[in-house]
Amino acid sequence: MLLALLTAAPGCGQGNAEHDVELAVLMLRMQVHTGKLHFALKAQNWELADFYDHELHETYDEVFAARLTEDGVDVSASLERFMKPALGQLGNAIDGRDSTAATAAYDRLITGCNGCHTETKHDFIVIQRPTAPMWTNQVFSPK
Ligand code: HEC
Repeated sequence: MLLALLTAAPGCGQGNAEHDVELAVLMLRMQVHTGKLHFALKAQNWELADFYDHELHETYDEVFAARLTEDGVDVSASLERFMKPALGQLGNAIDGRDSTAATAAYDRLITGCNGCHTETKHDFIVIQRPTAPMWTNQVFSPK
């Protein structure tokens, strides 16, 4: 990727190399919020879950608006297809404080992450439910 950046011809700002850097950062943000969301939902901390749902939407919007292409794949279109239904389902579940629905929506979200990674030829990036909290300095249970 660095090589691609260095060899990008001037005026090729639309090239993927530059965008890739940003997409990976946005993806890392998604990974963090998806991970934290798991623990908020597990603790039935709906306020916190709602917060992470909101953050995921914000990152989604940013990726969507960037109109990237990844290996010839339209990233915005893939994002919409793989993530939008799950995010909608998740929002409804959180609003309705419905744990069962939230679990199903969360699983669908993760399936979407991985589906899109496959479609964009990044199937070596595999997302799963976290098995332990990465942030032990944050309390996930409701006050
Ligand atoms: C548009 C389809 C798409 C969707 C949906 C998607 N990703 Fe990605 N993801 C990508 C692409 C493309 C890359 C590689 C970016 C690059 O090459 O810089 C990536 C990279 C990543 C990375 C690697 C970055 C790192 O720091 O390790 C992680 C983690 C990641 N995605 C997490 C997620 C999570 C979590 C979700 C679901 C909540 C998700 N992605 C949904 C397309 C997607």
